[in-house]
Amino acid sequence: MSREVRQLYEQFPYPLRDPQAETERLLMPPMDTLGRVNHYGFGGRKKFGAGFRALVAGGGTGDSLIWLAEQLRDCGGHVTYLEPSLASTKIARARADMRGLANITWVNATIAELAASAPEKFDYINCAGVLHHLENPEEGLRDLASVLADDGCIGAMLYGEHGRLAVTEWRAMVAPLLPGKDMNARLALTRGLLASLPDGNMLFKMGGGAGFIKGLLENDPEIVDLLLHPVETAYDVQGVYDFAASAGLELAAFTGFFGFGGTGKAHYSIDNHLRDPKILRDVAALPVRDQQAFCERYSGAMPLHAFYLTRQSVGLGMVDQKMPDRDLCPYFFVPPSATFFDDLTRLAGKPVVLSDGTGNAVDLIGGPDLVRLLQLFDGTRSFEQIKVILRDDILTRQPIDMNQIAQNTLVSVWALFHKFDWMLASAPDSGWQVPCTPHVISVKTPD
Ligand SMILES: C[S@@+](CC[C@H](N)C(=O)[O-])C[C@H]1O[C@@H](n2cnc3c(N)ncnc32)[C@H](O)[C@@H]1O
Repeated sequence: MSREVRQLYEQFPYPLRDPQAETERLLMPPMDTLGRVNHYGFGGRKKFGAGFRALVAGGGTGDSLIWLAEQLRDCGGHVTYLEPSLASTKIARARADMRGLANITWVNATIAELAASAPEKFDYINCAGVLHHLENPEEGLRDLASVLADDGCIGAMLYGEHGRLAVTEWRAMVAPLLPGKDMNARLALTRGLLASLPDGNMLFKMGGGAGFIKGLLENDPEIVDLLLHPVETAYDVQGVYDFAASAGLELAAFTGFFGFGGTGKAHYSIDNHLRDPKILRDVAALPVRDQQAFCERYSGAMPLHAFYLTRQSVGLGMVDQKMPDRDLCPYFFVPPSATFFDDLTRLAGKPVVLSDGTGNAVDLIGGPDLVRLLQLFDGTRSFEQIKVILRDDILTRQPIDMNQIAQNTLVSVWALFHKFDWMLASAPDSGWQVPCTPHVISVKTPD
């Protein structure tokens, strides 16, 4: 770790957090929600309990640390917080103290130093926004892989090359103005430029509007991290796959990351972007990673990539995999609203929109049969059991091969509800089917 980077995070602990805020809200970085980690990183089969070891590598001021420690505190799981910046550690510690979290080990070191100490292996490693600031990111990933359990999973976030063009352009623009200025002078320059940013500047689009620039001007660590960092690398989709392979790891799935829109898992799926059936067919013929690379360029809105890495593919995240193993039990990860099933029954035969309040929505025509089917997705019945009930009790009016119809119906309904992680799957005895709060899926009629 260079002296310059070390100094930067001592002066600007990242992200900007006030420990007092822990009394009012709990931040839940979606990549670290254990239902997701289980589904994508462990094929739905992980038992989270005493002995489960998580590492937050480059933990900063503690967002992922706090969320993981909160989820694991009652089952006896443990989190190791690894961070070279003492200023960041102080804030993360104060946050943990506010919450009375006692299942944390504090390590003041770099990733390379931790790996050299050959610690007991970790089941889950979070490493968000860190590796792209290393001088040798591949070496950093190899170090993390060396401390990962054989069946373990890494949740990582790296800068995205195409969606980040606004920053690349910005950095090129200010580069000639920086030499001879210390970080405070660079910050003052950047603030001055941001304060009167022309409407057409690409940063507006990247951040989703004027609110983003206003927010930046109230957040010096964010300005420094985004626009003035001395070391950074950005990756496109193909680069993420190559990066994983460089450490002998598989990309299990892309996922969402809070703080920036447009990077959820659905955005890597071509049917989210393409309407023309012929173009869709052509793009669908490409290998999955080429389809995802297509989505990245077509959307132009992926300033970062968040993803899960495993040693062997566990399958559940791949877009070409129609359904998880049949013995797994699907469940609502985003719960239905209190009136969800009644609304779907009442509006039978009419087009409706299901939405979770975050911009994710699907259209469908509901009715009592769909309601009966969805009520079977309760986390205790396996896909196979649901198929049999669907075939024998619900789809009783079809005169042809019921088995195939039940299978196809199940695949379609699963795909619809899994698209935005509204449903995930896990082994019946995994004991980890904790719904994702605070959102619910509700039913509306189209405007
Ligand atoms: C952009 S911040 C991200 C913080 C946190 N992961 C998050 O997403 O909120 C990068 C963090 O990585 C830490 N870091 C930088 N180089 C590191 C290294 N070689 N080993 C461990 N941590 C490092 C920095 O001190 C800083 O806190």
